[in-house]
Amino acid sequence: MKVLAISSSPRRDGNSSALAEAAVKGAVEAGHEVESVHLADYVTGMLDDCRRCRGADGACGIGDGYERLLMDHVVPADALIIATPLYWYGMNGRLKSFFDRLFCYTSGSSPVGEEVSAALQGKRVAALIACEESYRGATLGVEAQFQELTRYLHQELVGVVVGIGNSRGEVASDPSRPLERAADLGRRLFEIRVTDYRLDTPRSNRVWGSPETAAPADETY
Ligand SMILES: Cc1cc2nc3c(=O)[nH]c(=O)nc-3n(C[C@H](O)[C@H](O)[C@H](O)COP(=O)(O)O)c2cc1C
Repeated sequence: MKVLAISSSPRRDGNSSALAEAAVKGAVEAGHEVESVHLADYVTGMLDDCRRCRGADGACGIGDGYERLLMDHVVPADALIIATPLYWYGMNGRLKSFFDRLFCYTSGSSPVGEEVSAALQGKRVAALIACEESYRGATLGVEAQFQELTRYLHQELVGVVVGIGNSRGEVASDPSRPLERAADLGRRLFEIRVTDYRLDTPRSNRVWGSPETAAPADETY
């Protein structure tokens, strides 16, 4: 499968990039075709007033590498590994701009709107967050944002790894071993079971059993 790792921190050798590298290592070990990019090489502009700045053909008028990133790297990928430092309890601004600007490329007036909207769906997404605070609430907002934006895009959020560190590379010293957890997430990107049950979802009472050993769907647990 094709995997794209997006590092969004301005610190290329910082903590979130270290998490991304670990996840990439895991995905490579699992035999996937993996590519890594730094967002700063493509995205310099922020979303503007689309009605004013898009071209006559509806194409985004911001002249940086966003379209190249989206069409050549994001669109073909089956899974995205997205790494961010925690900034003010959210994702960093450049990554937020990446998501904001999807608006322009998925709108009905964009020449690639239909293609991009279709291609974004079905991707598996792993989120990696580096931050200083170990307080659990610090990352809840950004984790919820990943959950909601993947839901909106019909994607599967397969996992979130939070690594604690502040100075460059310090995440490697986090005793909760986020680098190992990121590698594991990368390795199991396409195997991780993601459920979104509703009351009436037909299902067995066994999660991991084989179909032969599983109880009938209507059996109570
Ligand atoms: C602008 C800015 C805002 C930050 N905000 C937070 C924060 O709200 N909570 C936190 O725990 N760490 C915060 N940090 C610390 C970084 O998340 C932390 O140093 C992280 O390891 C940086 O990752 P990086 O090396 O990938 O850039 C902030 C750092 C910067 C530069």
